[in-house]
Amino acid sequence: MKICASAPAKIIWFGEHFVVLGKPAIASSINLKARVCISNSINDKIIIESKDLGVKCIYGKDIPRELIQFIHIVEYCLSENIITKLKPFHAIIESSIPIASGLGSSASTAVAFTAAFLAYHDVSFNRELISRIAYEAEKIVHAKPSGIDNTIASYGGFLVYQKGRIRRIRVRWPRKFQLLIVDTGMPRNTGKVVKMVLERYQRNEDIMKYIYMAAEKIVRKAIKCLRSGNIECIAELMNINHGLLVSLGISTYEIESLVHRSIMSGALAAKITGAGMGGSIIVLTDRIKLDHVIRAISPLAYRIIPASPTSQGVTIERL
Ligand code: MEV
Repeated sequence: MKICASAPAKIIWFGEHFVVLGKPAIASSINLKARVCISNSINDKIIIESKDLGVKCIYGKDIPRELIQFIHIVEYCLSENIITKLKPFHAIIESSIPIASGLGSSASTAVAFTAAFLAYHDVSFNRELISRIAYEAEKIVHAKPSGIDNTIASYGGFLVYQKGRIRRIRVRWPRKFQLLIVDTGMPRNTGKVVKMVLERYQRNEDIMKYIYMAAEKIVRKAIKCLRSGNIECIAELMNINHGLLVSLGISTYEIESLVHRSIMSGALAAKITGAGMGGSIIVLTDRIKLDHVIRAISPLAYRIIPASPTSQGVTIERL
């Protein structure tokens, strides 16, 4: 028996960090995926292996740091009686999502692993349960996750996320516009960045609460612009949102250089996506300007990935 599950990467269009303190955020799945395949184990052991990271472990023995979240999923399912008896298995994790770059790679692998693991154990489940279990793994990786990454990897599409609640937005995406993910090549630890932002908030709550209110207003307006496919409005709100993220202290020289160069070369918008302090920015451009924008930012970028929003969340194949 072999069961594979795939879960998409995500980008946050509006509201990262603000979402940690309960404000709404808008995220969508994109066309990069993590895939986990679980098959019978030949030696009656439980083996978890990440092809991309080149690490492997046997359950019950030493666990490398990179695989702790998967062990946590197994143990959480046992402790909550979601699974009553473990079957030996061999899990292989593969992903096309750059790690530590703001695209939710840890949540996507956790969601794909959870789905394949539950299906392999013949447990009946839905997206809500997968997302809830993956959230437990996210808590191991990040300090105080809002839950947006595991939610979008489970459900897919465009979602407004606030305090664990989700609302789908039907988006009319005009094909004449292209989205680019531009990786600074500077990995960072989401948990540490979230902690730094929360500390700034606590030191300056009297000022920061207005910045958080502005971020919420951006999301409310962006929902309308996304529904009507008004890209100029979306682009302007993305640029304003980036300015608010700079005020949280999560931008860097590399990010600002890329944002500035993108806009100067004709892109409509450029903003941090995810935790910042490195990671990726997203750039929105008219396709007519695409080559020009790519040429302008290439010397500063570690990697440029043309991406499209998708509608699919986690999927399962029984092979
Ligand atoms: C990380 O993808 C998004 C943050 O808002 C953290 C979180 O929501 O858990 C920075």
